[in-house]
Amino acid sequence: MYILKNLTLIGFLSACFINCQGFVKSNPKKSYAASTMELMKLLEVEDELVDNLKGYVKTLKMKFNLMERSLIDMSRENMEMKSDYESYLGNPLNSFRLIHRLHTSWRKWYQYAIKVENNALGHIENARLMRKMLPTSSDLQQACRGIHDLMSFYDLKPEELAAGNLAGYSQPGTGLTAYDCLALGEFSVQKREDDLAEAWYNLSLIRFENKFDKYRVHKAWGLLLAKNKQLTDAFYHFENKPEGIIASNEVIHFKEELSTKQNCAVVVQKPSRLHCRYNTTTTPFTRIAPLKMEELGLDPYMVVFHDVIYDTEIDGMLNSSNFGLSLTDSGQKSEVRTSKDSYIVDAKTLNERVTDMTGFSMEMSDPFSLINYGLGGHYMLHYDFHEYTNTTRPKQGDRIATVLFYLGEVDSGGATIFPMINITVTPKKGSAVFWYNLHNSGAMNLKSLHSACPVISGSKYVLTKWINELPQMFVTPCMKDSNLHPPQKE
Ligand SMILES: *[C@@H]1O[C@H](CO)[C@@H](O)[C@H](O)[C@H]1NC(C)=O
Ligand SMILES: *[C@@H]1O[C@H](CO)[C@@H](O)[C@H](O)[C@H]1NC(C)=O
Ligand SMILES: *[C@@H]1O[C@H](CO)[C@@H](O)[C@H](O)[C@H]1NC(C)=O
Ligand SMILES: *[C@@H]1O[C@H](CO)[C@@H](O)[C@H](O)[C@H]1NC(C)=O
Ligand SMILES: *[C@@H]1O[C@H](CO)[C@@H](O)[C@H](O)[C@H]1NC(C)=O
Repeated sequence: MYILKNLTLIGFLSACFINCQGFVKSNPKKSYAASTMELMKLLEVEDELVDNLKGYVKTLKMKFNLMERSLIDMSRENMEMKSDYESYLGNPLNSFRLIHRLHTSWRKWYQYAIKVENNALGHIENARLMRKMLPTSSDLQQACRGIHDLMSFYDLKPEELAAGNLAGYSQPGTGLTAYDCLALGEFSVQKREDDLAEAWYNLSLIRFENKFDKYRVHKAWGLLLAKNKQLTDAFYHFENKPEGIIASNEVIHFKEELSTKQNCAVVVQKPSRLHCRYNTTTTPFTRIAPLKMEELGLDPYMVVFHDVIYDTEIDGMLNSSNFGLSLTDSGQKSEVRTSKDSYIVDAKTLNERVTDMTGFSMEMSDPFSLINYGLGGHYMLHYDFHEYTNTTRPKQGDRIATVLFYLGEVDSGGATIFPMINITVTPKKGSAVFWYNLHNSGAMNLKSLHSACPVISGSKYVLTKWINELPQMFVTPCMKDSNLHPPQKE
């Protein structure tokens, strides 16, 4: 049905192409949208396709009728037998018929049921051969362009066209279907006419009834908005996803971006506090110098240590010539990773401190990495673990946990957020946050997803330490419950 409606439209279009040659460039290739003569051929193609399909349906119907009639007979006999099977089976002819029926007829029925009728196949094959004659995507593009030109030359609105109203010449029968509107929406996106695209999507959405069809439109509309950074509106469309549909990677990406944005916007919100206490048990050293630690979460296990790096250490590090470059660079995301050699001075002390804090051995860990986030600087959502293959991992070892020292106070913004567990850590000079990237089993903990919010004012220095899993072999087995508590080392 909608093919017919389309044709009426394309018919109108081609009439326009002929009448308004002044502004439509003629196409050297014979295209359906280019002339009524060509469109006439298309009508014949459709006639033939309809005949084909009719033939196919007729064949199937015959088969269906035959089977249904036999079924009625069989059920009758079956009922009769059940009503008094002793007397039924007492008749040897009945017994014979039962055995014969079940031995032969059911096999035949099975064969008949799965057999594809030759002539039915013929119809389908015929339709397949006719594909060559169907309009191509470039035909469709041209048809879309035609509608597009009509709209701009006569100042027509999508709503009018969709309702079959052509500049006061109204023919409701020629209105556009949901699919037509969607196609015109997609064409408008290509032409970068986003407002027009939204109008077409809206019209398409109203016309679709099935929720899966509706989602196709919502998704296209949402992606358009997301690309224009209208994330909140885009989110509304992505949320219209029916059960059972898996969100595409593109949709997931934009949802994460929005979630970062929203989480960063509520940075003022205090992190939830589980416990706050002095810790004296990790290593013998901490008995003398207890660490002030605050548990933020249990899955992944996450704590904040207060005052674990001293101002003098921070000054020394930031003033050090090794970091000169990173200090002057206030670009978007300048990351400076110092090599072990050039950063000997405090690395040993700090490595020991991280061991005191976490109980982990620092062997094989990545060297400390100093990161400076300038104005607006941020890091998109990411994981710290590698995606090593099974062969690389036993040699290289993945990053079991991360320690992030905050080396400066940020006036505004700049929080570290973990959207999947609703945890926000605000940078506080001298503190450090520690969390697990892997489960106790070694599996990646997807809840460790995090990002650094944009710095609104001030600039942010963080020092990270990624801890390697391999040297912890003798430590990890002491952990009792998966990702509950970091290991003891005594
Ligand atoms: C979609 O169409 C409805 C009318 O059917 C209108 O109220 C609404 O504002 C339109 N939305 C957009 C975003 O164009
Ligand atoms: C101290 O920290 C270690 C490692 O983070 C942890 O295993 C231990 O339970 C903590 N002790 C107390 C008393 O909180
Ligand atoms: C680092 O530089 C700051 C400001 O330039 C200065 O106040 C401080 O004394 C320096 N610290 C060290 C350890 O050089
Ligand atoms: C890698 O190892 C994990 C755990 O042993 C296993 O589940 C996974 O199938 C392995 N992957 C490949 C590609 O061998
Ligand atoms: C995070 O917060 C949102 C909104 O407050 C809530 O819907 C969601 O369930 C929370 N998730 C977790 C893991 O706490």
